[in-house]
Amino acid sequence: MEKISLWRERIDKRLKELFLPTYPEDLASAMAYYLFQPGKRIRPIITVAVAEVLGGDEEDAITAGCAVEMIHNYSLIHDDLPAMDNDDLRRGMPTCHKKFGEAIAILAGDALLTYAFEVLSRPKVFKTLSPQEIIRVIHIVSVKSGIEGMVGGQALDIKRSADLYRINLKKTAALFEASFMLGGVVSKREDLIGGLEELGRNFGLLFQITDDILDRDGYFELLGEEEAKDKAGEMYRKVIDGLERVFGSKPASIKFLADKVYNRVREEASSP
Ligand code: IPE
Ligand code: IPE
Ligand code: MG
Ligand code: MG
Repeated sequence: MEKISLWRERIDKRLKELFLPTYPEDLASAMAYYLFQPGKRIRPIITVAVAEVLGGDEEDAITAGCAVEMIHNYSLIHDDLPAMDNDDLRRGMPTCHKKFGEAIAILAGDALLTYAFEVLSRPKVFKTLSPQEIIRVIHIVSVKSGIEGMVGGQALDIKRSADLYRINLKKTAALFEASFMLGGVVSKREDLIGGLEELGRNFGLLFQITDDILDRDGYFELLGEEEAKDKAGEMYRKVIDGLERVFGSKPASIKFLADKVYNRVREEASSP
């Protein structure tokens, strides 16, 4: 969808404008390393798509989405560390700690997390949001990133101390909840925030299940291929039904994103 490619370009451009660190050089380079690799940018794209449907300012949606993208990339730096998943490659390239060393990778994650909040609270960074609305944005991003959200989920994941549904709800779906909710805040539609949160939860679970099927871990390991694919289908339908409930229609851009995520495993199903 052409519109989505255009949003992705604008997100990349805005990320470059917002990201100013240069010193200490190795720390700044490690912070920039994942952030400026060609990731899918699905979280900020969702924020922009929701704002477009609800009539919010596009640039402000991009700015809020960029903060979530910074947090997402910090979470990946830490997720790859030897103490966590101990991965050598991400996006086909050496992981942050492989390239910069473990200490700098830890610090780069810390600095990227903090930087997201520096950006959100930077004077005049938003054009159309009141100070109260900016605090609302910061609150949503904090809750969905921290112990109630992504970090809590990562803790449950490394200890395998909860069921997979609960782990995924926090480690992955929480940032998707934030992405949908921020689209609502930017559009000044507090009345829709609960519905957007639920939509984000289902979208995030769909995203993680399809990721598990492709990586042959998580739900794939637990349920087997067929049941995991059924589960993905169930989450996909929940997302599609939720669109109608929240927006009163099925916005083509958001349906396109859900289709894109679900098609990753649908296509697999038809290949030998
Ligand atoms: C990877 O997220 C981590 C998960 C939650 C499965 P993405 O697949 O969105 O990562 P990039 O940014 O596009 O590489
Ligand atoms: C990553 O989860 C989720 C977060 C970083 C919060 P995974 O460990 O399952 O994802 P990949 O496979 O490393 O991208
Ligand atoms: Mg992990
Ligand atoms: Mg991992």
